[in-house]
Amino acid sequence: MPRFALFAALIAAFSLAACQRVDPNSPQGKRQTEMKQLLKLSEQLSGMSRGRQPFVVADFQRVSTALQQAARTPWQHFPEYNAAKPVDARAAKAFGQATANFEAATDHLAAAAKTGSLDDVRPAVWKVEDSCSACHRVFRPE
Ligand code: HEC
Repeated sequence: MPRFALFAALIAAFSLAACQRVDPNSPQGKRQTEMKQLLKLSEQLSGMSRGRQPFVVADFQRVSTALQQAARTPWQHFPEYNAAKPVDARAAKAFGQATANFEAATDHLAAAAKTGSLDDVRPAVWKVEDSCSACHRVFRPE
């Protein structure tokens, strides 16, 4: 399967699960809202880097900076992994590693966007998508 199809399939699994009613003020509701924001931003970057939308450097830079910031905030809503004494310390550590990898990928992308070169941003977008997928593969609830 081409790389984008794999990524899209992984994300689609969530959109279906998202139809269940969830209290928007619960940790789950908050993390879903933040994840949807990540999806919205990463879809714009994906579109511009794959030619589905025109590559406009200023837009790309603005969105990649927004993604870099949005990448920091969802994790506070995962009490099972960031409690002082998590129930499953190994899972908590792995989750922390996955969030760090993802944040680093968004830093790399924001830096690449500053070059204004499509050739530079493309691999950086792939890296971000891979790090979304890597976390989902392990941590998405069924
Ligand atoms: C460190 C782990 C991790 C990373 C990185 C991550 N996610 Fe998620 N994501 C999750 C988990 C866990 C859930 C399930 C949250 C829940 O329903 O409680 C989720 C849920 C989602 C959902 C469904 C939200 C809903 O309404 O149910 C979408 C869409 C999503 N993620 C997109 C993304 C995108 C796009 C990226 C990368 C730009 C990303 N995620 C990066 C862990 C991660």
